[in-house]
Amino acid sequence: MRSNSRTDLCLAWAVLLLAAFTWVLAVCFADEPQAEKPTGEKPNGNNKCYVCHPSLKTEEITTVHLDIGITCDECHGPSVEHMHDEMLMTKPDLLFGRAEVEKMCSNPTCHKLGGDRYVYGFEDHKDHTAVKAFYKKWLHRVRPNGRFITMKSVCTDCHGTHNIVMEVESDEKNWLTAFNGRDLTGWRPSGAASWACRRGQLIGMAGTNGKGGTLWTDAVYEDYLLAVTFRATWPIHAGIWLRAAGSERGPRIEIFENHKAAAFTGSIWIPAKGLALLNLREDLVDRESWNTISVKVQGKRFQVWLNGEEVGAIRVDGPAKGKIGLHIETHPAYKAAKLCVREVLIQQIGKPEKSAAKPDTKPATSGSDE
Ligand code: HEC
Ligand code: HEC
Ligand code: HEC
Repeated sequence: MRSNSRTDLCLAWAVLLLAAFTWVLAVCFADEPQAEKPTGEKPNGNNKCYVCHPSLKTEEITTVHLDIGITCDECHGPSVEHMHDEMLMTKPDLLFGRAEVEKMCSNPTCHKLGGDRYVYGFEDHKDHTAVKAFYKKWLHRVRPNGRFITMKSVCTDCHGTHNIVMEVESDEKNWLTAFNGRDLTGWRPSGAASWACRRGQLIGMAGTNGKGGTLWTDAVYEDYLLAVTFRATWPIHAGIWLRAAGSERGPRIEIFENHKAAAFTGSIWIPAKGLALLNLREDLVDRESWNTISVKVQGKRFQVWLNGEEVGAIRVDGPAKGKIGLHIETHPAYKAAKLCVREVLIQQIGKPEKSAAKPDTKPATSGSDE
């Protein structure tokens, strides 16, 4: 229902865009060559959005489009209600999930493609050397925008930092690699699962009869950003423990599928409480390839992204600091469960701003772990 109306909206918008673009073209061709270039800021330009999105003022996607007179409105719709909603509950008129980006940008009136391709691809890029150089630098790495670059990356993975995902305090230099790529220095296993380092990857496997276990960091972390890049052999029930202090444990981010609860990878499970945040989108995880779970842990707030898409945030009472653990859950039917981890990046961040103590919101939904 929601996605249908979204498709309709997108179509409607595509038509509008087409009209707008035809108009722009008409104006361009009608003008004398010495005519003024668009000055960028029109009276109905981006200022109204910058009020609350100041960081987008200098961001690539915004600036390159603004230069040719394409404002926020043209992609996101006028979004009047969004702008005036003090409770911040109303979304802009048009939003694009990561999966919709390529289609949205590869509109023939915007980024024209050659051949019978349906997305603006490598061949359509004018500067192939630049794209190759980009891949050389970023392939299989997380960009500062929180996006993991693969051969299947979409436009906004590579272009700009338009997605606000990890922008908050992330600073490329300050990321620490918790896994050195050579051995298990800094990590300690417990339980029956086996952990080894092979070809630069950390590989966890379920023990006999699908017995589980955890690989813990030696270090204890308080408030941090975490990005774990992994691929799994399915079926699997694995996860990432956050702030585990001995037997007292903070939440765990799940790598699993739980059809009963309709919850998928990126959901949060809390010991003795159950599933507290559900990722309902099964398609966010790539079962055949690498995925990045990013987390922001600050005060009592836990916020999760999977492959750059925000899953959600919840507030949880629990230990104020603790270890991070890569986990394989015992499951008698998942004897071949295997979790490969290529990168564990951690960035310590400051405490949440001291605002008047907000009441803790209840977990979004509760369910039970299988
Ligand atoms: C009064 C402040 C305010 C103004 C003005 C405003 N925004 Fe926002 N916008 C926000 C906040 C706050 C969020 C983050 C809300 C959230 O986390 O869901 C947001 C989120 C968004 C998102 C992402 C929504 C999502 O769910 O991913 C888009 C897109 C967006 N704004 C576009 C715009 C555009 C386009 C304009 C100008 C037409 C605009 N905003 C003007 C406050 C504002
Ligand atoms: C793997 C990363 C990557 C992806 C994915 C990507 N681009 Fe690019 N793109 C680049 C690089 C690198 C350049 C050259 C340097 C620059 O302008 O940033 C570039 C340049 C461009 C340019 C400038 C002119 C040209 O054609 O070279 C446009 C327009 C463009 N990209 C549009 C897109 C669109 C639209 C998409 C998605 C359908 C996309 N790009 C996907 C990396 C990428
Ligand atoms: C050329 C089209 C285009 C323009 C212009 C544009 N956006 Fe976007 N915007 C997108 C697309 C596509 C996405 C989805 C990006 C993604 O998830 O990779 C997006 C996503 C966003 C998000 C959500 C990011 C997140 O991480 O959830 C915000 C906020 C946003 N835009 C705000 C703005 C504002 C404010 C402006 C103007 C200053 C603007 N956009 C101009 C196309 C555009």
